[in-house]
Amino acid sequence: MYNEIDLDKIDIHAEPPIEEPVRQYYFMAKCHQWVKDFEQKNGRSPKACVVNMGCQMNARDSEKLQGILCRIGYAEMESEDADFVIYNTCTVRENANLKVYGRLGVLHGYKKKNPDMKIALCGCMMQEPSVVEKLKKSYRFIDLIFGTHNIFKFAELLWTALDSERMVIDIWKDTDQIVEDLPVERKYPFKSGVNIMFGCNNFCSYCIVPYVRGRERSRAPEDILQEIRNLVADGIVEIMLLGQNVNSYGKNLAVPMSFAELLKEIEKIEGLKRIRFMTSHPKDLSDELIQVMADSQKICRHLHLPLQSGSTTVLKAMNRKYTKEQYIRLAEKIRSAVPDIALTTDIIVGFPGETEADFQETLDVVRRVRYDSAFTFIYSRRTGTPAASMEDQIPEDVVKDRFERLLKEVQDISKNMAERFTGTDQEVLVEESNRQMKGYMTGRLSNNHVVHFPGDTSMIGKILRAHLDECRGFYYMGSLQQTQNI
Ligand code: 5AD
Ligand code: SF4
Repeated sequence: MYNEIDLDKIDIHAEPPIEEPVRQYYFMAKCHQWVKDFEQKNGRSPKACVVNMGCQMNARDSEKLQGILCRIGYAEMESEDADFVIYNTCTVRENANLKVYGRLGVLHGYKKKNPDMKIALCGCMMQEPSVVEKLKKSYRFIDLIFGTHNIFKFAELLWTALDSERMVIDIWKDTDQIVEDLPVERKYPFKSGVNIMFGCNNFCSYCIVPYVRGRERSRAPEDILQEIRNLVADGIVEIMLLGQNVNSYGKNLAVPMSFAELLKEIEKIEGLKRIRFMTSHPKDLSDELIQVMADSQKICRHLHLPLQSGSTTVLKAMNRKYTKEQYIRLAEKIRSAVPDIALTTDIIVGFPGETEADFQETLDVVRRVRYDSAFTFIYSRRTGTPAASMEDQIPEDVVKDRFERLLKEVQDISKNMAERFTGTDQEVLVEESNRQMKGYMTGRLSNNHVVHFPGDTSMIGKILRAHLDECRGFYYMGSLQQTQNI
């Protein structure tokens, strides 16, 4: 097992191996020696801060970065006033990029106080050539820049940055490589994300993801199953299967396998208690999957099904490949097969050409499907996507007004929907101490709703039974019915 490799036993004066992941362990060993020298000189361990700025895929990547830093010997730190800071960036919306530039100013201040500090940037935003150009020109104090395709090379890149004074930049356009068996430092001891595929082939016309994450690649089922078995052996009870479009899992494998088939295999893993997945594209959601969800004891009663728009005309311009009616029918089919399921969604307002009538169609779907919650976004023009050059971009005041109206509708409905579970007993995975209320713990129901209840930290990671006493809009107050792990 690679996990057991002793970095001190690797000959760091030999030539680096060509094969992965052994090559990365060689560079971890080199960095490890650097850390030991640092400790001798400074009388303390160097501190590293990993900042995650994106989605669940990003969060999982951040755990991989953290895993490598821990193996090397860096101490984990929350503050950015550290010896090594890495921003794992997102670029889905323009706002995300602006935030990064803002925060870099603060980092520069830290670096002036601590000139040996190293600053790194990685993630989706780095896959945009214009961003890298800007950083090269105006942010010379950055030490390391890499993208999404070569994150497995982090140890090697870190070594290059530690060993030189220049700005190290390594961005790949695409890759078909999937490197397994690198260290991971998980944020929670009881739940974990598991990548099942990378990239996206859908090219929704507003979305930059296919350009920055590359083409769809599925991991081999045996690798996924083995990773989950290892996680369970390590105490994990809940997993979240991650992919931009999990419903098209397995299409490009040598021996194709559907997502529903993969779920059935995962279900068989003993000791695993909960399975979640994210994100589903409505166009690829099969009847087979609905059946597997209905029959399953472990798949959580929650489905995130991005709508984006309720207007068939806008959906066509978005290249979503379903109509308003098809989406509604799909939602109805799911609700009738799995009646207690919570449906959540993503909606964009202000897509180019969206009329008030189109927007009313979106409101109509929201009222008919009745989401348990919805993420609502203002359309953001992303350079290089087809929608960015479409005529008829919508004025800001019109978009803001629609956004407010949508938000109100969505919130009223979610409150109302949450009420349907008040008074019931539900299984809850206890996640953490409540930060506001002393003596209270916070957990998550199978349907992803949050519940607060009196308890103590010994309950963390257990699945207990709670009575939902009261619904307070987006969360419940509850009381435990059973304190034994289910
Ligand atoms: N503008 C606004 N929202 C976007 N999303 C993706 N691209 C854009 C964009 N250009 C939203 C979609 C997607 C979610 C992750 O982000 O709703 O489902
Ligand atoms: Fe973007 Fe569409 Fe792919 Fe989702 S399915 S990542 S919205 S292109």
